Amino acid sequence: MSASSNAIESVLVENRVFPPADSVVKAARVSGMAGYEALCAEANKDPEGFWARLAREHLQWTKPFTQTLDESKAPFYQWFADGELNASANCLDKHMGTPVENKAAILFEADDGTVTQVTYRQLLERVSQFANALKAHGVQQGDRVLIYMPMGVEGVVAMQACARIGATHSVVFGGFSAKALNERIIDAGAVAVITANYQLRGGKELPLKAIVDEGLSMGGCDSIKNVFVYQRTATACDMVAGRDKTFSEILAGQSTECPPTPVGAEHPLFILYTSGSTGKPKGVQHSTGGYLLWAKVTMEWTFDIRPDDVFWCTADIGWITGHTYVAYGPLAAGATQVVFEGVPTYPNAGRFWQMIERHKVTVFYTAPTAIRSLIKAADSDESVHPKNWDLSSLRILGSVGEPINPEAWMWYYRHVGGERCPIVDTFWQTENGGHVITPLPGATPLVPGSCTLPLPGIQAAIVDETGKDLPNGAGGMLVIKRPWPSMIRTIWGDPERFKKSYFPEELGGTTYLAGDGAVRSADRGYFRITGRIDDVLNVSGHRMGTMEIESALVAKTDLVAEAAVVGRPDDLTGEAICAFVVLKRSRPTGEEAKQIATELRNWVAKEIGPIAKPKDIRFGDNLPKTRSGKIMRRLLRSIAKGEPITQDTSTLENPAILDQLAQSN
Ligand code: WTA
Repeated sequence: MSASSNAIESVLVENRVFPPADSVVKAARVSGMAGYEALCAEANKDPEGFWARLAREHLQWTKPFTQTLDESKAPFYQWFADGELNASANCLDKHMGTPVENKAAILFEADDGTVTQVTYRQLLERVSQFANALKAHGVQQGDRVLIYMPMGVEGVVAMQACARIGATHSVVFGGFSAKALNERIIDAGAVAVITANYQLRGGKELPLKAIVDEGLSMGGCDSIKNVFVYQRTATACDMVAGRDKTFSEILAGQSTECPPTPVGAEHPLFILYTSGSTGKPKGVQHSTGGYLLWAKVTMEWTFDIRPDDVFWCTADIGWITGHTYVAYGPLAAGATQVVFEGVPTYPNAGRFWQMIERHKVTVFYTAPTAIRSLIKAADSDESVHPKNWDLSSLRILGSVGEPINPEAWMWYYRHVGGERCPIVDTFWQTENGGHVITPLPGATPLVPGSCTLPLPGIQAAIVDETGKDLPNGAGGMLVIKRPWPSMIRTIWGDPERFKKSYFPEELGGTTYLAGDGAVRSADRGYFRITGRIDDVLNVSGHRMGTMEIESALVAKTDLVAEAAVVGRPDDLTGEAICAFVVLKRSRPTGEEAKQIATELRNWVAKEIGPIAKPKDIRFGDNLPKTRSGKIMRRLLRSIAKGEPITQDTSTLENPAILDQLAQSN
């Protein structure tokens, strides 16, 4: 558990500061640093009183809570535990009879550019009808429902419908494989799968239902009673009689009214699987009350959301960002949001800018990887440069998922934001539920590449391995010292792993360990995230466990004897996956090596999903190991980067292997 010194060294010394314009400060909900500091002071003085006030102001409770925080079973913290509410009612029903009722909830832009508008009233009716269909098929409060859907209104409806009847959803990103689906279905004990026949991305029709069929056929999925299939395209897919039903079949005759089921505030709203340091993904369990409070509050704090905003978060609902800032936050805030089915580069790399112009987007939230790839495209083709579109509707830009390098930040600021829009570089994790360290657009002076300061009530700190606070300027481990409402509640089915992963005894057992390295600037105390300190990679903003990829590689038992996976920096994707592989046969070279590498990449795509395909695969007769047989990953990281080996190699069993691995590529 030590922060990588390389990562810290690579942090640029950044002196540019961009304070928000006076007009922005004046108009903002949290106005100026004084506004931010007042909230922090309130939260620090009486944290429980602070959260209780917000929970009463922002959420509608069918049964009010009397206790704000229950720490008696720490680190299994409980928030608002005796209160009852329904998440869907807080996103939809509460707007009925207000000016929001007939405003657009979703502006859906399909892959081919077709736009459909759904008002809050219509969305409520569709969610209610779907909720009735789920009930009619035996889905009950507390059941888990797996969602494997394309981006679109139906995916949001499916999630909201589960929430409406108190079923816990688990969304799996459409880029995961049949095997990954199978594992998640089994782990969650899901009773139903909601999917589509196909998804449309970049002009291509990609199967979803066929992957579900394959996942279910792998065994262990007896808990699944129903598969509900949205027919996104006209192409037919196989349907298993008795088990599979189309949306039109299940919705026919269902009422568009469905009273929301009140659940306890701690009721699991969803489970979302994410990668950790072991081969097995973790089912991050979130609550209903605390989670929803955070989704709503951060829409207001971080995005300063207003009634006339058009909000667009480009994340897929398969990731946490798509949960908090597509499926729940914007709806809880009564905002109009754009939901996009396709990819940023189709039909060309001007798609995002064209869509911002078309929908008059005011708040735009995307990932550094997308920005970097669009910079590259604009550099080589002027016609897709953002200057070709009218982006004057924009007022706030956001970044999420990985560190944004200052160069990309500056381009985003200049060419997309016209030097007038603050960029909120939001740091958070699946486990956090929503933003935890981020600038506030009308308050925080911005420094490119820095996520700046914690939100009010978030006791973020940087500590060493013993839990001791480190001074500004010193790199260490990022922790959060006090619980907050939207924090992870447990790892589904594995409370011991929850404690070990996030609340290690070395840090006292009640301090949340983020798993990221960070450093605070000497002058302002601003946080900069320096990258993961565990065996997790961040590739294009997607979290991948090195052990997961290693397990996938060695599962190819006819070919692979051993594998070690590390990350290396990549200009476009942030990090790239680099695999060192020892085959069961002699080490291949030349064409043959290329061929086997392709075979292994395709294998990993089948085992986990295309997003986990290693970029580099190097073959060796062996891996660098200590005499006790431990693989020396830090040496592999240097080789992957193409750096000379400067570390001590005296404990190495087989030093000659380093040259061989450095040469093979
Ligand atoms: C990284 C995504 C730097 C970090 C919301 C974290 C970031 C992991 C930022 C969580 C940021 C996320 N700056 N790094 N603004 N945002 N990260 O769970 O390493 O998919 O631990 O949640 O992404 O990824 P996750």
